Amino acid sequence: MAYPIPLVAAGAGEPWPPELVRAPTARSRRLADMCGIVGYVGRAADGKALDVVLEGLARLEYRGYDSAGVALLDGDHVETRKKSGKLANLRADIEAHPLPASATGIGHTRWATHGGPTDENAHPHRGGEDGRLALIHNGIIENFHALKGELLASGVRFTSETDTEVVAHLLAAAYDEVGDLTEAMRGVVSGLAGAFTLLAIHADQPGVVVGARRNSPLVVGLGDGATYLGSDVAAFIGHTRRALELGQDQIVTITPEGATITDFDGTPAQGRAYEVTWDAAAAEKGGYATFMEKEIHDQPHAVRDTLLGRTDSDGRLVLDELRISEEQLRSIERIVVVACGTAAYAGMTAKYAIEHWTRIPVEVALAHEFRYSDPVVGARTLVVSISQSGETMDTLMAVKHARELGAMTISVCNTHGSTIPRESDAVLYTHAGPEIAVASTKAFLAQITACYVLGLYLAQLRGGSYADDAQSVMKELGEVPDKIEALLGRMDRVHEIARFMADTRSVLFLGRHVGYPVAMEGALKLKELAYIHAEGFAAGELKHGPIALIEPGQPVFVVVPSPTSEHGLHGKVVSNIQEIRARGARTLVIAEDGDDDVVPFADEVIRIPATAPLLAPLLAVVPLQVFALWLSTAKGLDVDQPRNLAKSVTVE
Ligand code: G6P
Repeated sequence: MAYPIPLVAAGAGEPWPPELVRAPTARSRRLADMCGIVGYVGRAADGKALDVVLEGLARLEYRGYDSAGVALLDGDHVETRKKSGKLANLRADIEAHPLPASATGIGHTRWATHGGPTDENAHPHRGGEDGRLALIHNGIIENFHALKGELLASGVRFTSETDTEVVAHLLAAAYDEVGDLTEAMRGVVSGLAGAFTLLAIHADQPGVVVGARRNSPLVVGLGDGATYLGSDVAAFIGHTRRALELGQDQIVTITPEGATITDFDGTPAQGRAYEVTWDAAAAEKGGYATFMEKEIHDQPHAVRDTLLGRTDSDGRLVLDELRISEEQLRSIERIVVVACGTAAYAGMTAKYAIEHWTRIPVEVALAHEFRYSDPVVGARTLVVSISQSGETMDTLMAVKHARELGAMTISVCNTHGSTIPRESDAVLYTHAGPEIAVASTKAFLAQITACYVLGLYLAQLRGGSYADDAQSVMKELGEVPDKIEALLGRMDRVHEIARFMADTRSVLFLGRHVGYPVAMEGALKLKELAYIHAEGFAAGELKHGPIALIEPGQPVFVVVPSPTSEHGLHGKVVSNIQEIRARGARTLVIAEDGDDDVVPFADEVIRIPATAPLLAPLLAVVPLQVFALWLSTAKGLDVDQPRNLAKSVTVE
């Protein structure tokens, strides 16, 4: 039988020689699709299924974009269409060969690691006689190998290399036995191991889509005479804001009249109803050429909205979403932040502030490293997870592990109804609105803001020398959105620099204290978006090795701390600039308004408004985001969907 072929093979798109293609190990089998899923049922003959599903897929494309497909019920049979490549390929194919009008449909956009990104491996997958059932899947069926063996032995023929197709055949067989798709789904999910969201339709049951979820996202949208399913609410936000959150291990059956939910064992269950507070326009580009540009400009709102409603009439911080008792929070001896990617840099930034204000030691761990490091945490440890999507599997696993070890867990998250907040003891939502571009920008600022609010709240709760400062810091934080606004108005020069530097092969970033994670975030943005070698260093570490990288013409961004920083930090970074300048570096210096000390040593000075030193990252990172955006654009690259990445990484 064919085994999954590595997605990135030597020699563009060429399959690897068979001798190099290994049977999947337990580890490699953990890798599977992490995808966007849409389901729709309208009243008979409403004919809208294809449009609704394609629109939903367009909004979910950030979750994966190497193939896409749809399945529609047409009279007494199922029509499917699927294409490798971006959604545009599928659309073009449908335009050339139109699909029938339908009121029941499902759609899928894929990020493959399990079976290459081919037409055959794209979802939906068919099962049963004449392919009367169609199925889409997000996640992994960990025991697919054994199940596939049994199916092959019983004569079933497979047309793809995916784990998903196994479920399509099992579900079709179960349907033939029980004659009801919900019943059939219930029978099949009990035999599946792993994480999955499944949606299925069957030719014999028009007007019905059945979904199931375990450790993978699925939300219901309730319209008038139409019901929706999506990996997140963006899938149906153009049609309804009324949503239902599903629990773990649940099956949902949608009809035009609404949704029926049960647990896997058949016990009736209720979804949690909520109103989505952002609208379709928030998930659109709003006149910008890319989502990333729009999201960079959303940042003043993201910070402002994340600060909203955090203080009472006396100016004291109140955090309604924290469901951990004040007594427990007072007992904390240690904080561990777990996160990945940009969210981890938000955590690193917050460490400086939280330790400063609360005197509680804070450690920041990459979630995937934390989970498997035999971490020392217990009842007096507060584990703070940070995640924009709330679905990052590495972070989810870290949170689950921390809870098993008895720690208190708080999730800082941007997505209501997502898995990580649900698996945590408490949640502090960031209110950045939907972030669609794969590279995170506004979520980063909102995460830092929320973590600072948490730090100030803990300081206030526990007393100590900074308890009284909480109000004045909140006031300063409140001024940051206007400063970001002003800063965004003076990015023309950064835009120009990015264009001049389109051919640059390597860029270094230096920072110190809170400027250090900013430097790393600047480097990450450039790697993600422009595919350029970029590194962020602690400026003090320069002389211990990285300075050897400096040669004439090497561009180096330096994030300079405010001249008001403690311990003479500003002067030390100015010295670092001189050291690299003396060795020929081209210095691009990010410095506060009025900081003239840097001028003699800077090839370019990028000015940011003055603010308290701990709050400076909320400003200093903005030019670095803008730089990466325009450099990527100058190179003609896809800013919103960079190669090899996905917005929401739901595999370990
Ligand atoms: C992916 C994205 C990054 C993001 C990271 C964490 O790697 O490409 O932009 O920072 O996941 O995502 P999360 O949703 O947990 O914040």
